[in-house]
Amino acid sequence: MTAEIIDGKAFAATVRAKVAEHVANLKEVHGITPGLAVVLVGEDPASQVYVRNKGKQTLEVGMNSFEHKLDADTPEADLLALIDQLNNDPAVHGILVQLPLPDHLNSDLVINSINPAKDADGFHISNVGLLGTGQKSMVPCTPLGCLMMLRDHLGSLSGKNAVVVGRSNIVGKPMANLLLKDSCTVTIAHSRTQDLPGVCRGADILVAAVGRPEMIKGDWVKPGATVIDVGINRIPAPEKGEGKHKLVGDVDFAGAAEIAGAITPVPGGVGPMTIACLLANTVTACCRANGLPEPEGLTA
Ligand code: GUN
Repeated sequence: MTAEIIDGKAFAATVRAKVAEHVANLKEVHGITPGLAVVLVGEDPASQVYVRNKGKQTLEVGMNSFEHKLDADTPEADLLALIDQLNNDPAVHGILVQLPLPDHLNSDLVINSINPAKDADGFHISNVGLLGTGQKSMVPCTPLGCLMMLRDHLGSLSGKNAVVVGRSNIVGKPMANLLLKDSCTVTIAHSRTQDLPGVCRGADILVAAVGRPEMIKGDWVKPGATVIDVGINRIPAPEKGEGKHKLVGDVDFAGAAEIAGAITPVPGGVGPMTIACLLANTVTACCRANGLPEPEGLTA
């Protein structure tokens, strides 16, 4: 069998188009423009690229983008004061503090100072608790993107065996909670799991989020399974020339594509969905803040 390729780039474009439609409606009918504030502390090059892309895509869907760039040595009190200001700004519906933060800042304290209703990343402890208890919450963007792709591809997920490899707070744990909410039988596996290949072979839905290049091999995949590869790993690619690199996922794509029913590629799979879901979360937060119905198809 050769797997169907789940095109995350194309799917993200459809999510952004839906977001843009909701934004246009909010503006025309209600006179409200959703706004996303992104806070970047320091000059981490990868973070600068992410923040630039977020700002660009926010404007492209018709929302307001507020960028706050702070020096790497910004005192914690100043960052908390900025978040307080954004929490109280009615033009700001979503707030994202780009991670990682410089070492002198307490990330948990900073994230938990965001108004949970404006927590576009879904990282606030209140949102984590709400999701964990199956209640309405803000949902982390990457797992939300994975869920949207799974629902689009499979329809109902009810009763499926789902294995999530990876137990991070940003992907693995919220992903498992979302799959549980959609009535999957969920296993969270990780690098210490006994017989990891055997556990993966039981998965109708296999989500790989371990951060280890090509760790999950083709013969770990159940025939016909749907494989979602969250990993983005930069590895040397001598075949492309000296000093060259390439991006690979946590799954051995060539091997898994022979066995799986469907699979997300890297790049072009889960990656583009993350920012699309950040925009979706901002519209959701805006609708909730204004007592309006939630945007259909953009929430968990
Ligand atoms: N850094 C890398 N990914 C993310 C993300 O999804 N959210 C935030 N806030 N920072 C990140």
